[in-house]
Amino acid sequence: MCGIVGYVGRKNAEPILINGLLRLEYRGYDSAGIATIEEDGIKVVKNKGRVASLLEITEKNNLKGTIGIGHTRWATHGKPSAENSHPHMDNKNTIAVVHNGIIENYIELRKFLEENGYKFLSQTDTEVIPNLINYFYEKTPKRGKEDFLNAMKETVLKLKGSFAIEVLSKDFMDEMFVVRKDSPMVIGKGTDENYISSDIPAILSFTKDFFLLNDLEFAILSRNEVEFYDMNLNRFEKQAKNIAWDMSSAEKGNFEDFMLKEIFEQPKSIRETIGARLSADSKCSLDEINFTKEYLESVDRVYIVACGTAMHAGMTVKKILEEFCKLQTEVDIASEFRYRNPLITKNTLCIYISQSGETADTIAALKIAREKGAKTIAISNVIGSSITREADFSLYTHAGPEIAVASTKAYTSQIILLSILGIYFAEILGVQDERLEILKREILEVPTKIEEILKNTENIKSFAKRISGEKDVFFIRTWYRLCSCIRRFFKIERNFLYSF
Ligand code: F6R
Repeated sequence: MCGIVGYVGRKNAEPILINGLLRLEYRGYDSAGIATIEEDGIKVVKNKGRVASLLEITEKNNLKGTIGIGHTRWATHGKPSAENSHPHMDNKNTIAVVHNGIIENYIELRKFLEENGYKFLSQTDTEVIPNLINYFYEKTPKRGKEDFLNAMKETVLKLKGSFAIEVLSKDFMDEMFVVRKDSPMVIGKGTDENYISSDIPAILSFTKDFFLLNDLEFAILSRNEVEFYDMNLNRFEKQAKNIAWDMSSAEKGNFEDFMLKEIFEQPKSIRETIGARLSADSKCSLDEINFTKEYLESVDRVYIVACGTAMHAGMTVKKILEEFCKLQTEVDIASEFRYRNPLITKNTLCIYISQSGETADTIAALKIAREKGAKTIAISNVIGSSITREADFSLYTHAGPEIAVASTKAYTSQIILLSILGIYFAEILGVQDERLEILKREILEVPTKIEEILKNTENIKSFAKRISGEKDVFFIRTWYRLCSCIRRFFKIERNFLYSF
């Protein structure tokens, strides 16, 4: 995973790129680099190490360009080093590229380019991209903007894998070219300036209006315009979406780190995720879905598919769907699901969970269900993210940007939303069970209970201190003991917890 950022405007690009890269460092921090368009051509500054060490050398370079691209790397092909850092240039030093993703067939492409006289300076998969663009571009007689875009298209047709690519060309000193497939990329719309990033929080301080690029769509960014093109290079219009995230949610504030801040944000994120969806004395409402009893009765199987933490959140709803709704439910890791030819029919319901909405395996697993005609629900924290654009229905956790790598508020919000979804299904199916009412009341109390816990963190701190030096920690489910501890802690009625 790497982070990319870009700026096209009238301000000095360098500090904007550095600011964005600092916010993207969670995506990779073994090397970083930027390229800007200067009066005499493209200037690249890059180095091994964190963005802070890049800053030291950019300051010496006195970059003045107002268009630039940046990258923070987590090495996949080639060790962390200055040569392997992005941006990468073509052999003629006219095209600079930053790339997030993996080019699976880069060895084959490298061989093809070497046979055509190209030389490689790095061990990366990325370096084939600027050289391929150059290869196709040089074949065109006129060398206009359309020819450059066409060279990018020809390049994209050769690439196997995932990519979000930003490209600068010496021939187009006022523009930036971008394209993506299976890797995240958003375009921030400003006034007389435009931005690019792997994710929204990195550029949230500059704009709240975003264009969301779909797979295999190209964009050309200039100062006052963003042009969109499909794979046939037909131009089309796209509407910007306003993302109502508060900038303070992407700042650390008085907290030592983002993770601590996000732990303390849980009461708010859970309250906002519950919103008007759940109340103690009426039925759950999920307007985004509107399923009928007939439909749910026709469902032959439910798959809950996700990666990592999101998959663990998915496990919590299995119990509700099976025990209350009598729906056969399997929880699957997306990276296995996509390769194991799962049994999916038109009556299968597939639920995909992803905080970012951009995890490649989860997106690929969703596409499989769609191809087989199953209904799909996406659960994500990011409005307009890729899984929400692919799925039939989307539900959002309203946790705000989650910047820490270890998931806290997004995970607990996912559990709450999934539980509401389970109760919603049970209510549609007409399930009569008093435990559902208790569960609803308990969910509504969760934010206040978390607030209570967070008022006194001394116990948690001393427990964390006690176990912090341990190499391994085993969580052993001693069910009855655990239940009675939780029951005592939260003052919950005995029957409810034991029955789970
Ligand atoms: C994050 C974590 C990871 C993510 C996983 C899926 O704390 O543990 O395992 O959960 O990479 O990410 P999303 O939810 O964005 O699809």
